[in-house]
Amino acid sequence: MKSYSIALIPGDGIGRDVTGAAWSVLQTAAKYAGFTLAGTDFPWSCKFYKDTGRMMPEDGIETLRGFDAILLGAVGWPAEVPDSVSLHGLLLPIRKAFVQYANIRPHRLLPGVTGPLRAESFDILCIRENTEGEYSGAGGRVHQGTLDEVAVETSIFTRAGVERILRFGFEQARTRRGKLASVTKSNAQKYSMVFWDEITRKLAAEYSDIAVTSYHVDALAARMIMAPESLDVVVASNLFGDILTDIGAAIQGGLGYAASANINPDRSAPSMFEPVHGSAPDIAHLGIANPIATIWSGAMMLEHLGETAAAGRVMKAVEATTARGVGTTPGKDRTEAITAAVIAALT
Ligand code: IPM
Ligand code: MN
Repeated sequence: MKSYSIALIPGDGIGRDVTGAAWSVLQTAAKYAGFTLAGTDFPWSCKFYKDTGRMMPEDGIETLRGFDAILLGAVGWPAEVPDSVSLHGLLLPIRKAFVQYANIRPHRLLPGVTGPLRAESFDILCIRENTEGEYSGAGGRVHQGTLDEVAVETSIFTRAGVERILRFGFEQARTRRGKLASVTKSNAQKYSMVFWDEITRKLAAEYSDIAVTSYHVDALAARMIMAPESLDVVVASNLFGDILTDIGAAIQGGLGYAASANINPDRSAPSMFEPVHGSAPDIAHLGIANPIATIWSGAMMLEHLGETAAAGRVMKAVEATTARGVGTTPGKDRTEAITAAVIAALT
């Protein structure tokens, strides 16, 4: 029987609740489809940091490299470890070290979920550049704590980096409705963003079957609210994509439904699947976190592993669950009840 090795990093807060929930759904889906998922748990988290002084061991990246995929819950417990420390010690290094340059985030309303907009039928796939740009980490501070202090943080855009993420977006558009929105702010940022627009135009000539529009990020943000049905694939830089996908989460009913996949398209290292919502300390361990974002991310993991039928089955089960009104009102259904409903719908 085919078997996949999965590294499980539940992390902090509700990450722990939702990872276990999604894992039981995925295990059931695997059983029905006739393959196995062999999970290895890693306790890497802010608690681990408190105990060891590191978010993951020194050889953490090398340990993860051998797995087929990573399922991650959430990283961050700001009351005890500053987010700038915890995220740079675990989540962000994984995205970079494994060249997970495409962060894919689907935004659509599940049946039974009421979003805040009048528009009901939108289906947006945000593709966020995930390894460079505004998150490159190039910068520093001098004269710290004095009146002369200077802080610099430089965005880095490489031709290889911009071209590969746009190309990835064009390929996705080909499998969908053939539309691509390329997002910049080239009216204000005249080097990096003009560069991005130029590469968009170059690739547009190559992908003449795709309808391409370049938008400024402010206008695109408004469009996601005013006319989300007009969008198909959206490609944006790391920070712009981060912000736009929180809008995407909001219009799809909230962070409880926002899934994501950090993909290494070349498959030279494992890809990582995680909900967008973070550790949500205010509701941690109350048993009311919505596991749907993580289950959906898990379906994206199965898809990436090539288990397309099982992935489809998981999404059908999620849709059948929300269509019945389970997991559609924040705080109403417990994590366990939503998970059990999805598992029941898998049969
Ligand atoms: C996300 C998160 C992260 C990001 C944070 C936690 C560093 O907001 O995945 O959207 O900005 O990438
Ligand atoms: Mn974010």
